[in-house]
Amino acid sequence: MDPGRVPTVYIETYGCQMNVADTELVLGHLAAHGYRRTTGPDTADVILLNTCAIREHAEERVIGRLGELARYKRRRPGVRLGVTGCMAQHLRERLRERAPHVDLLVGPDAYRRLPELLAAGNVDPHVALRLDPEETYADLPVARGAGVRAWVTVMRGCDRFCTFCIVPYVRGRERSLPGPVLLDQVRALAAAGVREVVFLGQTVNAYHDGSWDFADLVRHAARVPGILRIRFTSPHPSDMSERLIDAMAECATVAPQLHLPVQSGSDRVLTRMQREYRAAEYESLVARLRARVAGIALSTDVIVGFPGEDEADFAATEALMRRVHYDSAFLFKYSPREGTRAFRWGDPVPDDEKARRLERLVGLQETISAEINRGLVGSEVEVLVEGPARRPAGWMAGKSREMKTVVFPGPATAGALVRVRVESATSHTLSGAAATG
Ligand code: 5AD
Ligand code: SF4
Repeated sequence: MDPGRVPTVYIETYGCQMNVADTELVLGHLAAHGYRRTTGPDTADVILLNTCAIREHAEERVIGRLGELARYKRRRPGVRLGVTGCMAQHLRERLRERAPHVDLLVGPDAYRRLPELLAAGNVDPHVALRLDPEETYADLPVARGAGVRAWVTVMRGCDRFCTFCIVPYVRGRERSLPGPVLLDQVRALAAAGVREVVFLGQTVNAYHDGSWDFADLVRHAARVPGILRIRFTSPHPSDMSERLIDAMAECATVAPQLHLPVQSGSDRVLTRMQREYRAAEYESLVARLRARVAGIALSTDVIVGFPGEDEADFAATEALMRRVHYDSAFLFKYSPREGTRAFRWGDPVPDDEKARRLERLVGLQETISAEINRGLVGSEVEVLVEGPARRPAGWMAGKSREMKTVVFPGPATAGALVRVRVESATSHTLSGAAATG
């Protein structure tokens, strides 16, 4: 790299919304140290993959991508290739075996050290894998993407240790950012034109900064002028306090929508997963939410083929999904993760059986989503306009308060609230026309 030239960084993000937010953090931090972002690997001095370890598939994709990226290092030997995030923490030395050309592994608690490590030239690639229970990055600048919605990380890590999940091992212990710091961020976002804030955390509703709990944070943020909607993801069912349900019910700014991972409908499986609720408790929570928050849209995560899940367990999950009637669901085949407690139970449900169960739930959810959305035809929804729809030309797209994608003929301005009368619906999208009068 020429001395005096502004160094460039290219970063690809894998995995969940927390990782997208971490990428914005890494970019903000590197920008403060003189790095300029570039949109492709061709000219980048630093190439980073911000990675996910939640399922094996996510890790395999990154290994494949690292193989492709090797050519940039061959062409321009000065290029530094780094793996950041959960997979760096999870695989450590083994990642180096499978991708020996990687220069740097930086775990989720070591992003602060990136400028120093990049400036140091040759370093031991493993130096940045220590988990730090104090690190919240509360003081680092975040390079947020433009748009009407912004994601704000309010807590990091997880203390729950569900037996299938690698997150507590790679992201470390739960810790919250100070409420006043977060409120300042929300105010700054409102001033910059953001209209919707999504609070993020692995167990976001376990938030506690020593003085405010999550209900307090939500109530304070709901009063920030300019912010039209507040959402949060992902809550743990066992941390859904009555105080939080009250805040959701009483603050008009809090959107009537919740992603509430259930994982399974079988108590036997839930116990082995160590989810700390039974199906009936989960459903009673759903009933309380529906009674208090009118029209709340619910989504969930479900894992099929967890070790020991038999036909009866699977039927219980299917039945719960029918009863709860989710607006949408993320459905996963169980993927054993080394280091978790479930790992020692092996992976006894064969892959084709997992695939069969997955397909059944996908079909069921498609039907339910389509039915719910078709029920909205003829009604009006409030849309926060995000920008042009992918198609047709001239149409605009945004999200309803329930987080459903809505498309309608323009014109309309990004950031505006438009009432749309729904004329047709699929399982994924509502479409209609701006209501007049
Ligand atoms: N296998 C499959 N799915 C998993 N998830 C977490 N760990 C695993 C795993 N080992 C799913 C859970 C979680 C979502 C983010 O990913 O459903 O809620
Ligand atoms: Fe993983 Fe469970 Fe923590 Fe969610 S609550 S991040 S599933 S350990």
